[in-house]
Formats: sequence, structure tokens, C-alpha cells
Amino acid sequence: MDTKLHVGRPNLGDRDSFLRRVNEALDSRWLTNNGPFTREFENAISDMIGVRHVVAMCNATVALEIASRALGFTGEVIVPSYTFVATAHALQWQGITPVFADIDPLTHNIDPKRIEELITPRTTGILGVHVWGRPCDTEAIESIARRHNLPVMYDAAHAFACSHEGRMIGAFGSCEIFSFHGTKFINSFEGGAVTTDNDELAEKMRLMRNFGFSGFDNVIHLGVNGKMNEICAAMGLTNLEAIEEIVSVNRRNYESYRSGLEGLPGISLIAYDPSQRNNYQYVVIEIEPDQSRHNRDEVIAALHEKDVIARKYFWPGCHRMEPYRASQPEAWRNLPETERIAARLIVLPTGQSVDEKAIGWICKLIADLVR
Ligand SMILES: Cc1ncc(COP(=O)(O)O)c(C=O)c1O
Repeated sequence: MDTKLHVGRPNLGDRDSFLRRVNEALDSRWLTNNGPFTREFENAISDMIGVRHVVAMCNATVALEIASRALGFTGEVIVPSYTFVATAHALQWQGITPVFADIDPLTHNIDPKRIEELITPRTTGILGVHVWGRPCDTEAIESIARRHNLPVMYDAAHAFACSHEGRMIGAFGSCEIFSFHGTKFINSFEGGAVTTDNDELAEKMRLMRNFGFSGFDNVIHLGVNGKMNEICAAMGLTNLEAIEEIVSVNRRNYESYRSGLEGLPGISLIAYDPSQRNNYQYVVIEIEPDQSRHNRDEVIAALHEKDVIARKYFWPGCHRMEPYRASQPEAWRNLPETERIAARLIVLPTGQSVDEKAIGWICKLIADLVR
């Protein structure tokens, strides 16, 4: 057994409930193709978020690809560089150029003030990312989008069960994309979903995730295989039942980190708005290099030596990864905050596999490194 403390170790719901569902799927021999567990998973999310349509998919990357195609993205789409590379890849994979906008250093989300200057005649949309589950400035983004008649989509891979201004994430923009990858707050091993209130868009995406089939032998659209299978949906449903328990563990861990790191020189823990729902899946610290004895990379290396697998996120930024590094070699000039934040940030382990004792020990290790 791996006893290291990893960022992103999966949260698990009730094992017996999951195995009961697996047996049911095996008994029924309905393993994939819009099966009953997949539809139940979609309905449960739809009720939870208060959105008309949930289209479950095999993962969030394919969901991003399908949704951006369904929205008619072509040419250029404005997106933060400070995100997991899948956000940019989903566009580039389809020959769409991701145009990188800088972030707001306080929220780590795309800075609406940087969007408008990047709009060109080739721009066809805006793709925001709710980093750490903290919502983008949807009002500002959508007002710019309205002025330029552009659709807005959000990558909400981090933001399942989070809210903004009292409304659940998943209900903003033309559509939003969730990830249920093993490392996410709620996992279905691998999985994703698009949420939307737009009937036509939902119908198009349902066709696209199933090769364009409308009934037997009748293909009416270009499509791909983006389907969620029944075992993944069984896992997703089981983990949905454990949401409250997982949030409370994450929240307890976050508070333990907060008290353990309090007052340490150069360390700040990112905050969540207590008036909104958050999944507390990310415990994120920034290290001020001038105030800490060791810099970010040295702290990470020392933690790894002690089997605490803390991570840099989203170092070094999409614009410094291929193919963007080669195709947009000057992009960094417009991304000072992205570069600054990516160089000073650490994500610490949380979730069900981390307890208060482990957190006390991790905080002590960090204290010895920064003081
Ligand atoms: C912000 C973001 N977008 C997209 C993805 C891709 O999700 P998936 O692994 O489900 O394809 C991830 C994580 O994996 C992510 O963190």
C-alpha cells in the first residue's frame, strides 16, 4: 500500500453501495450506452444544480471538446493560461487557437479586464475556469461577452458543489463542464459532464457524444465516442451520496491547515467565501519568496523527501507547455500574474486519506522550512 500523502488521492463513498450497483449492472448486462445509472447520475446532478440538462461524458477533456464544438467555437477562444493543460488542449485539438489572458492575482481566475483587449475578428468565444472552485467574475465576463456577441463557457472541473451569488456553479454561461476524474472532489474513476439550460445545445451534445446516432442506423450529426459507462456512473452516484461527508472532512482539514500555518513568515493560505458553498477540495498556499527561508521549489522538494507529495499547480502555465510554447513564444509578456502565481504556489494534500495528525505534522515541516 502507498502510504505517501498525495494531493488528489481519491475520496470514496460507501463501498458496499458501489459494489451493489456494479452487480446490478453486470446482472442486467447494460454496461454502457446511456444506461440507467448514467441517467440517474445526470438527474441527480441536474436536481442538485438546478439546471435543465446534464450530459454525462467519459471525461471532462472530451466534454470540453464536444461543448466547444457544439457552441461553434472556431478561430480563437480567450482562455486563462493558469489552468490544467486540458482546457487549452481541448481547443487546440480542434484547430482552435487558445488566446491566453492573464489572471487576477487575488482570485487566480481569468481577469475580465484583460479579456477585451484580446478580442479580434477571429474570436468566437470565452472560456473561463473556476480555479479551486472559486467562481470567475461571471458578471463582468458575461457583460463583455454580450457586448461582443460571444458565447461563454466555463471549465468547472474544480467547482462541483460550489456556488456563486447563491446560484450553483453549473448554471452559468452557455454551458459548464465538470470533471469526475479520480483526483476531483467527487469522482466516477474517470468522467465528466456538461450542464446547460439550452435545450438545443444539450440535444446537439447528446448526439455528438454518441457518434451522431439518433436511434438505430440513423446518423444525423458528426460525433465521437464521449459516453460515460455504467460502472463509472455507479461510482459517481455512490460518491454523490457522500458529498456532505467529504465536504466536512475537507473543511475540517482546511481549518486544521489554517491554524497550523497561521503566522508563518511568507505563507498565506487562500480563502473561500464563507457565504457560498465550496467543496474545500484544494488547500492552496502561496509562498512569498522574500519572507520565507526556503523558496517554493525547495519547500516542495523537502516535503517530497518526507513522502508528502505536495504539488505545484498549474506550473509553468499552459503558455510554457507545448505546443503553445513554440506557437506563442511571446505569450508570457502578457501574463505577468500567471507567471508570478505559478512560481509561488503549493497545493497540499487533503481529502479523506488525510487526518488532523498528518496535517499537524505537515504544518510543522513547513514551519521548519520557512522560519
Ligand atoms: C481545470 C481542469 N480542466 C480540465 C480537466 C480535465 O479533466 P479530465 O481529467 O476529466 O479530462 C482537469 C483535470 O483533470 C482540470 O483540473
